[in-house]
Amino acid sequence: MLVNALTGPSFEMWDSDEPVPRVELLKKVKGCDGILCVLTEKIDAQLLEAAGPNLKVVSTMSVGFDHLSLDELKKRGIRVGYTPDVLTDCVAELTVALLLATSRRLIEATHEAKTGGWGTWRTLWLCGHELANSTVGILGLGRIGVAIAERLKPFKVKKFIYTDVAPRPELANMIEAEYVSFDELAKQSDFLAVCCALTPETHGICNWNLFSKMKKNAIFINTSRGGVVNQEDLYEALSTGLIAGAGLDVTTPEPLPTHHPLFTLKNCVILPHIASASYTTRNAMSALAANNLLAGLRGEPMPKELKL
Ligand code: GLV
Repeated sequence: MLVNALTGPSFEMWDSDEPVPRVELLKKVKGCDGILCVLTEKIDAQLLEAAGPNLKVVSTMSVGFDHLSLDELKKRGIRVGYTPDVLTDCVAELTVALLLATSRRLIEATHEAKTGGWGTWRTLWLCGHELANSTVGILGLGRIGVAIAERLKPFKVKKFIYTDVAPRPELANMIEAEYVSFDELAKQSDFLAVCCALTPETHGICNWNLFSKMKKNAIFINTSRGGVVNQEDLYEALSTGLIAGAGLDVTTPEPLPTHHPLFTLKNCVILPHIASASYTTRNAMSALAANNLLAGLRGEPMPKELKL
């Protein structure tokens, strides 16, 4: 949504579920005071140049902000709103669902049941890995990591561990999680949930170095951003049995082409980036994004402003 306050105020909305074509967006942003975008729009120097000097606020309907060039926004004094907190429960819930679907092989199992693979009861058929007595590792402990751990605890997880750029005791204490090094996280985790933001530091951080240190029975789950994973290394780790399985809600690119090798693996469950997709949460995200935009345009404090 684009806002031009000089002539009105007037709003222009891209009224489609498909992303606005880049050329169209570059044309339409000219002279705008505000932009409300989603994560498919790259807000970079080219777009900010096209918008021109009126632009005061960019409000993204997402908690992630790797599609925004923060340096370019800061340089121009443009304020940024985003949508943390309102999606935490929904993302944590989906992460747990994906973890269980992957570790208990639910997608394979329904496929077998539907397609005639269901024969007599067999002792080791479709066996997976259970959460009871396990160690769960969290890569990047924030609100979402805590919410995931809170949901997993009743499954009788033995221990939560995490790593981050530095210990985060105020969050870790809520779930009695122990701070460990990146290598220890890899070595000890039976389940590893990636919850970090995509930054230059985390880009490709889940690569051969990580997978080669993980347990053979380990399940890798990513509901953050595809860019934190080296997908060639993940494919290698999954196809050679170096780790037991992976559940991905995010990939590079999105959508992941249907011929991608990861789709050929039974031990890889891929979802189309739906972690925050509940009616309640998407409504809350859009209301928050709209309120951030309006507050930014009025020069008032935003409900959720990203400090640049
Ligand atoms: C979704 O991925 C978000 O960043 O909100």
